[in-house]
Amino acid sequence: MIKGVPEPSSTFNVAADAYERYVGRYGADLSAGLLAAAGVQPGMRVLDVGCGPGALAAAAAAIVGEEAVAAVDPSEPFVAAASARLPRADVRQASAEELPFADDTFDAALAQLVVNFMREPEAGVAEMARVTRPGGKVAACVWDYAGEMTLIRTFWEAATVADPAAAKQDESSMPHSGEGELATLFERAGLRDVRGGALTASASYASFRDLVEPLESGVGPAGAHYAALDPDGRARLESELRARLGVGDEPFGLDARAWLAVGTV
Ligand SMILES: C[S@@+](CC[C@H](N)C(=O)[O-])C[C@H]1O[C@@H](n2cnc3c(N)ncnc32)[C@H](O)[C@@H]1O
Repeated sequence: MIKGVPEPSSTFNVAADAYERYVGRYGADLSAGLLAAAGVQPGMRVLDVGCGPGALAAAAAAIVGEEAVAAVDPSEPFVAAASARLPRADVRQASAEELPFADDTFDAALAQLVVNFMREPEAGVAEMARVTRPGGKVAACVWDYAGEMTLIRTFWEAATVADPAAAKQDESSMPHSGEGELATLFERAGLRDVRGGALTASASYASFRDLVEPLESGVGPAGAHYAALDPDGRARLESELRARLGVGDEPFGLDARAWLAVGTV
């Protein structure tokens, strides 16, 4: 933990709307890929760990029904948003490391963009396995921060040019975010038949301002960095980011890649 830099997980204690406008835009594509990779089908009971405002839980509910979905997140505003979105699902405030469910409760436990934020990732994945029945699936994905997650990689490149001290917060060294690292973690946590892979997602922006505005709330490590800058610092970062993305006041799209792991309990 670097002095003066917020704990990464605490940077999600923000309004759900800011999250939706930040990386929530990529959520539908990613959720569809993660649910397919885990083989989620009607009749299953599904847990979404680190649900945020509930994109994955909602996509799971569209397959298995809301009553068959449970979701947890430590962030109070996100739990409130996910509960409002899915009133018949079992949504609770909790962390992966201490899941408030009995052994073998679910057919699949999923974590979308969460494992790298867990205090104890191996314990979190082992907990996901504990609450999943034997033969059930545990699946997770983490952004390819250093590579094809264009928004976040380019943000930190620009932030570091604008202020070299930003390198200390650069998410490209996030734990378990390199190719194959999530699969290795799954094996260490005791899962069987582990396979890795990649998921892709894309998002649309109305303009460069549409991309920058959610950062003002301090959402995620990038938002926390941006929100702490003075007006000159923000202007330097924005100018660098805009040039690197090659975008302006017109609509544009960005692509992203996340590394995937799926294992059997
Ligand atoms: C990048 S967001 C992903 C949210 C959601 N899964 C999605 O795909 O939109 C990371 C989430 O992990 C949650 N989180 C952080 N630490 C956690 C932990 N130890 N256990 C479970 N969730 C955690 C945060 O509160 C936040 O909602």
